[in-house]
Amino acid sequence: MKRPGIVSSVILTAAALLVCLCSVRGNYCERQDPAARTPCKNDGTCEIITPTRRGDVFNEYICKCQPSFEGAHCQTNVNDCAKQPCKNGGVCRDLDGDYTCQCPSPYVGKQCQQRCVSLLGMEGGAIVESQISASSVHYGILGLQRWGPELARLNNHGLVNAWTSDAHDRNPWIEINMQKKMRLTGIITQGASRLGTAEYIKAFKVASSFDGNTFTSHRLDGQRRDKVFVGNTDNEGTKTNLFNPPIVAQYIRIIPVVCRRACTLRMELVGCELNVYSNTAGCSEPRGMKSRLISDEQLSASSSYSTWGIDTFTWHPQYARLDKQGKTNAWSPAHNNRSEWIQVDLQKTTRLTGIITQGAKDFGVVQFVSVFQVSYSNDGESWDTVKDENTGDDMLFQGNIDNNSHKKNLFEPPFYARYVRVVPWEWHERIALRMELLGCDD
Ligand SMILES: *[C@@H]1O[C@H](CO)[C@@H](O)[C@H](O)[C@H]1NC(C)=O
Ligand SMILES: *[C@@H]1O[C@H](CO)[C@@H](O)[C@H](O)[C@H]1NC(C)=O
Repeated sequence: MKRPGIVSSVILTAAALLVCLCSVRGNYCERQDPAARTPCKNDGTCEIITPTRRGDVFNEYICKCQPSFEGAHCQTNVNDCAKQPCKNGGVCRDLDGDYTCQCPSPYVGKQCQQRCVSLLGMEGGAIVESQISASSVHYGILGLQRWGPELARLNNHGLVNAWTSDAHDRNPWIEINMQKKMRLTGIITQGASRLGTAEYIKAFKVASSFDGNTFTSHRLDGQRRDKVFVGNTDNEGTKTNLFNPPIVAQYIRIIPVVCRRACTLRMELVGCELNVYSNTAGCSEPRGMKSRLISDEQLSASSSYSTWGIDTFTWHPQYARLDKQGKTNAWSPAHNNRSEWIQVDLQKTTRLTGIITQGAKDFGVVQFVSVFQVSYSNDGESWDTVKDENTGDDMLFQGNIDNNSHKKNLFEPPFYARYVRVVPWEWHERIALRMELLGCDD
């Protein structure tokens, strides 16, 4: 390169000083360009703090950080676990602006503060005969002794004092209907003695259900095989097993796997009531769209729109996080019609009480969803649409009216689901959505 003369050197220096701050571009930094790189990380908002936009050396900017980020460029994620919020051996996981505790059974609650260890009433009688059923029953002594499921009560006395399945039953089970959803943290099992001989269940599985029809086998977190519990070793001793994680269900089945002489059982269930909410207050915690407890993999959509067909400006469902900032800051589908949806897989059946929605800002154009429907599913295949309580029609939720404010809608009544879909029904300019789901872990 030719060594510049004095005059051109001055010009070069002046040009080099025109460093545009935040998302401003152009020879004189005169143009707002949301697509330009900003120095602020983690969705921080870049703001110029001197009155002039000319971009001379004295110009400065600040990054306004999202909650739980700090540093000049919002580069540091504040560790929400630093204060050790999880009690009783709970393991803390840091989220954006929040934390979550993984509690060892029998502790439950946001901070593992609650011990969930009530005896639910097999021994005490609070669980009545009609709540207990079984796949089969053994009749002893010429059919005169009935070893029925209603006898399967811990420490039951008498000559006939337990449940025994029929000897020909290849898939025996005993089922308790708790008549409402409960949280179970453990089970105590015991065998019995028949004609002076010990009979008991040496190993068993546990399955649970919300409706009494579809049962899910209990597995340890992250494992693909059914958990097999170690049961009894004699006719009188008791064995306690904890459910880790706890089981939330209305129906529970004990499924004998290995029995000594016969599948004979006395038992007690350990757990606690779910929090009983007369309304949604107390069950309206963000489920983690904003905090990222809900991971990117848990979000999907019918389609995604790309600004100018460019991949880096694709409005992915992973951007539908409440208060998301940046160039592409929401989910937007390829087409603007009522076939489009965004889906959250909560990975376990969750009680949901409400939703917060928010529009988006795209290159200066305001766009938002003004009316939407919500549908939900437990298997990701068959879907129910949230209904209007009064009319029984599909509920049309009133959504947003601008590009930024939060609109909260409650689900009345709340529902349980693993999968939730938001189906935009009416919109301004184009479908663009940021959101948060509200509910609790009960
Ligand atoms: C929405 O648009 C897509 C693509 O044009 C089309 O296949 C689909 O049938 C449309 N759905 C409705 C409800 O109009
Ligand atoms: C979008 O929302 C922001 C924040 O409320 C507001 O400052 C801005 O004016 C809005 N944009 C338009 C084009 O209305």
